[in-house]
Amino acid sequence: MTHYELMFKRRSVRHFRPEPLDEATLAEVRKAIKRLRPLFRNVRTRITLVDDIGIEPMFDVMPPHFIIFTSTKKETHNMNAGYMLEQLSLELAGMGIGSCFVEAQRPTKEIIDGVCVPNGEYIIMLAIGRPNMTLLRDSTVKFDRMPKEQFLRKGEYTEAIEACRLAPSGHNSQPWCMINEGEKLHIYSKKLADKSHPIHQTLDSIDIGILLYHVVVSAREAGLDGIQEFTLEGSKQAPEGFYYITSII
Ligand SMILES: Cc1cc2nc3c(=O)[nH]c(=O)nc-3n(C[C@H](O)[C@H](O)[C@H](O)COP(=O)(O)O)c2cc1C
Repeated sequence: MTHYELMFKRRSVRHFRPEPLDEATLAEVRKAIKRLRPLFRNVRTRITLVDDIGIEPMFDVMPPHFIIFTSTKKETHNMNAGYMLEQLSLELAGMGIGSCFVEAQRPTKEIIDGVCVPNGEYIIMLAIGRPNMTLLRDSTVKFDRMPKEQFLRKGEYTEAIEACRLAPSGHNSQPWCMINEGEKLHIYSKKLADKSHPIHQTLDSIDIGILLYHVVVSAREAGLDGIQEFTLEGSKQAPEGFYYITSII
């Protein structure tokens, strides 16, 4: 299945089989990590597969592996992390491997220090392993997501837009909405209630990176180039309570 097809079926896997993936599969996972495309090229990243994060994770069965994402500090680093890890999560689902983003816990400092990109910082991790539950949803009705009209504020609601609405987010908060202008898709992020942190340091910005991966892939599926452009039309139309992020053309 393609990433686009998987967007209509994926789910977070929180119940894992305890046994580690076999060596051949781990080699495939490492290759998949190497193939990941960044959203921004000005951020250096290191994405490392580990078996131990030095703490008891919250899952009922210890996931056999984790993927730790570290990055140099830039305003774009969280978005880039969401974009790359969603790509990986879909790729893993295609290989029959379950995954779940984990923001509620972090590896110990020793583990992070051992894998961190030089002068960088820990961003987030994925727990991964063979699922002990159904890996894929058999219907989009099984996704708990905001209503279509709340997600798409203007323009035609297409299958490609549906693939975007189904994107996962931390706490399922879905801090976003979109406008479809046919040749251009505009993306917006919900204004923060707590303005004490810049938006690029928040979980919302990881979520927006995830959404952007869904938008880029869906835009290509719909015949667009799938590249980013900051547009005046996009920024002028920001719905009340939302920041303009970017447009995909
Ligand atoms: C950035 C991010 C962080 C997340 N952190 C956690 C977490 O710490 N623990 C957890 O159980 N799920 C976590 N999730 C999974 C979300 O709760 C899940 O994606 C959302 O509820 C939608 O459900 P679905 O992925 O099954 O469609 C996270 C998801 C994202 C995108």
